[in-house]
Amino acid sequence: MSERARGMRKNLTSYGDDAFSVFLRKAFVKAMGYTEDAVERPIVGITDTFSGFNACHRNVPELIEAAKRGVMLAGGLPVAFPTISIHESFAYPTSMFLRNLMAMDTEEMLRAQPLDSVILIGGCDKTVPAQLMAAASHDVPAIQLVTGPMIAGSHRGRPVGACTDCRRFWGAFRAEEIDEQELVEAGEELCPSAGTCMVMGTASTMACVAEAIGMMLPGGAAIPAVAAARLRHAELAGSRAVALAEEGTTPDRIMTPEAFANAFTVLHAIGGSTNGVVHLAAIAGRLGLELDLEAFDAIGRDCPVLVDLRPTGEHFMEDLHKAGGLATVLREIRHLLHLDCLTVNGRTLGENLAAAKVFSQSVVRPFDRPIHAGGALAVLRGNLGPGGALIKQAAADPELLVHEGRAVVFDSLADLAARIDDPDLDVAADDVLVLRGAGPKGAPGMPEAGYVPIPKKLARAGVKDMVRLSDARMSGTAFGTIVLHITPEAAVGGPLGLVENGDRIRLDVPARRLDLLVDEATLARRRERQGEVGPEIPERGYRRLYLETVEQADRGCDFDFLRPPARGKVPPPRA
Ligand code: FES
Repeated sequence: MSERARGMRKNLTSYGDDAFSVFLRKAFVKAMGYTEDAVERPIVGITDTFSGFNACHRNVPELIEAAKRGVMLAGGLPVAFPTISIHESFAYPTSMFLRNLMAMDTEEMLRAQPLDSVILIGGCDKTVPAQLMAAASHDVPAIQLVTGPMIAGSHRGRPVGACTDCRRFWGAFRAEEIDEQELVEAGEELCPSAGTCMVMGTASTMACVAEAIGMMLPGGAAIPAVAAARLRHAELAGSRAVALAEEGTTPDRIMTPEAFANAFTVLHAIGGSTNGVVHLAAIAGRLGLELDLEAFDAIGRDCPVLVDLRPTGEHFMEDLHKAGGLATVLREIRHLLHLDCLTVNGRTLGENLAAAKVFSQSVVRPFDRPIHAGGALAVLRGNLGPGGALIKQAAADPELLVHEGRAVVFDSLADLAARIDDPDLDVAADDVLVLRGAGPKGAPGMPEAGYVPIPKKLARAGVKDMVRLSDARMSGTAFGTIVLHITPEAAVGGPLGLVENGDRIRLDVPARRLDLLVDEATLARRRERQGEVGPEIPERGYRRLYLETVEQADRGCDFDFLRPPARGKVPPPRA
């Protein structure tokens, strides 16, 4: 380790007398029952993100115990400390609204406390991004540990899981294909254990991305939350965190531009969540690296979807674990990866891959026999989304990927809720549903409302998918021909705000285009009529900070003052 202050002598409280600060700190730490020997050891912090409101983090206490055991076996002193914990369904107005608050909380606690390294225990969608944003902003060695996915449930003899099947059952209920009794019965099985959603939603995506980028020990992304292997993985993370403290390997040495390229490639190969793009943009932004949407799209053109997991396939994360975990995916795409990237275990991605077990399995397809030939996600441009938009093409109806239709516009979430099921709504199956006012500032918090429900009267008639557009996000567990993250959002004057009912809209995914077929003179008149736009800024509080400083989706929806000046782009163009 360097000559820098370490352990209890790091990050001293300011009294104007460092020796006194150490003396006082030691006096208080003795109240925790620690001996002098213990407090002289390397200190490994462990974020305690257990919360009674976070089902996905139910197993955090036992992971902390296992990680502590690992730290002590390696001669360190583990110290757990609390940070904010965010669950998708227990965060008003949205979990995304609070992600940056968690990132700030975590970053400042890393900076304030005497830590030689830290184990970041996350899991639910926004927690891993928040923790990696914090790690990227501070120079303490860090290891990402996740709670792990839930095991699959079973409903009437068929495997089910959150939240792809949550949406499927809800859609079936709306279409009156199942009754309330069956809906309640299914609800008992959708989340059958501790852990995160077990399909390839945002939590699973971010776990895979964290492993691919090198911040997690190999094999950690897919181990089920309830498996003993998850505890052994946590113990190993604890031991490794002590060595990492000694080596002083900081996150910026691991999360390099090439490592981001690996993460973006994996995002395509696993059929990952659109949210992964926003979160990776935010993490990269903390390192001064701007997202290059076109370069991300170009990666997808070379990298097919290989993982047969819901919502693009059939399996669950526990099946990916049994199939060898992320290493099995990495092996298939190794020719697209930067194998010399350093990872938290001190070895390169290529070395880790060489050490991973190889056996036959049926969850990860061979590169030349993919689930979906194009990448999972495509980046769209056009006069409706000059700053870009995303579509998860692998989870869309192929028939709708090139489509022109009449716009049916909803101005806000409230407007959507009030009118979508109105029997008098003027809507047909080949129309394009447009939701606006649901972006980072508009809602605020960029809710996962992009999965606009099929109007009830069409659902009852058997319509399963329609082209839907919005400045919102969508859960990674959802599916459909849904264009998201339209940038700039309507609330800051984006062209989405100029669409009127009956306008023609053209989606052309192969050409990467999204266009409003209205001439520029008409749009200029509408813009003039629209006048000033912008969210109302409240007088005080976090909401004020959020609305004043949150950036658009292409910049990760981070706060502008948390990003250092740009020094490069990710992913870097392929050599
Ligand atoms: Fe936590 Fe899905 S709600 S991972």
